[in-house]
Amino acid sequence: MAASFGKQSLFRLSRFSCRCKTSGFLNTKLFASPLVTSGCRHSSSSAHTNSNKQESEKHETHFGFQSVSEEEKENKVYEVFENVATKYDLMNDAMSAGVHRLWKDMFLERFSPTPGTKLLDVAGGTGDIAFRFLKYVGTPVGSTFSSSASVAQSSSDDSSSSDSEGTQVENKDSFSEPDINGSHVTVCDINQAMLDVGKAKAKSMGYSSGISWVKGNAEVLPLPDNTFDAYTIAFGIRNCTHVQKVIDEAYRVLKPGGRFMCLEFSEVKNPLLRSVYDSYSFQVIPVMGQVIAGDWKSYQYLVESIRQFPNQETFAAMIKSAGFRFVNYKNLTFGVAAIHSGFKI
Ligand SMILES: C[S@@+](CC[C@H](N)C(=O)[O-])C[C@H]1O[C@@H](n2cnc3c(N)ncnc32)[C@H](O)[C@@H]1O
Repeated sequence: MAASFGKQSLFRLSRFSCRCKTSGFLNTKLFASPLVTSGCRHSSSSAHTNSNKQESEKHETHFGFQSVSEEEKENKVYEVFENVATKYDLMNDAMSAGVHRLWKDMFLERFSPTPGTKLLDVAGGTGDIAFRFLKYVGTPVGSTFSSSASVAQSSSDDSSSSDSEGTQVENKDSFSEPDINGSHVTVCDINQAMLDVGKAKAKSMGYSSGISWVKGNAEVLPLPDNTFDAYTIAFGIRNCTHVQKVIDEAYRVLKPGGRFMCLEFSEVKNPLLRSVYDSYSFQVIPVMGQVIAGDWKSYQYLVESIRQFPNQETFAAMIKSAGFRFVNYKNLTFGVAAIHSGFKI
């Protein structure tokens, strides 16, 4: 199992599971402590002093502001991305007025991959990070020179297989075969609908090499130890039930010297800016979701899930506790999003 397992830390949690019960976004103003042991930005206070109650809630987590079972959360998250897959890119542009593109560009700049890098992009969805990576390392669009990658590119071929848990691994070996200039990105996502949109985009953009697609859960990656030079996860980790497990898995699949990088929504510390941001998030985004994608609930979840995610310092501590070194973060747009980075040394 992961080399990082067994490491100790204040923030080390066998399960990252926030059990906060909140009724509305105003409660988001109550949390701020980077030392909340659950890693969640909400205060858990006296609700959990009763040990029996703790026991009965052991498998509870949050889905936005709802308290749900872990299994229910996974299903609900799956449904969200299945519902939004075809409108996902459009909605990202509308909600952020295109700013998500700048954040992703800045993420790649900070990552600065060199040609020859083998990248695993987890929760890679429709491929935004993967395509930027290929462009950055200079993999030529429209190239057809790699037999392994041209197999990997086909979304409807028969080369996929399922393991006993139903995890589908497409073109099992393609991730281990870098392309002609040595660069390769493996996009891993739990949701087939998102991967399908990504594959169609790859085809329309002319990428027939350098990229492969794996259906799998970030918490139990269907990939071998010590395989990748870099691991990226953009706007994906907050949707996972056990955040610490995701980070531990990242550590396991990275080669020694490999880099973990995460782009995720984070905490706006300035109270005035936060209040403007909260108003926009809760009053505008679900409405946009309804108008553009016919889906209020998924976008309500999106804004709620952002408030449930650990803040910059807590998340950095979780990355350190997985064993990563030189951990740091950079805020984007006053902390609306943040880039975290760490190395497996
Ligand atoms: C907001 S999208 C981000 C997509 C892409 N990285 C981007 O930046 O545009 C979140 C993605 O996380 C995926 N996801 C959620 N839970 C996951 C899990 N446990 N393992 C892998 N992917 C997961 C969803 O299917 C979805 O594609």
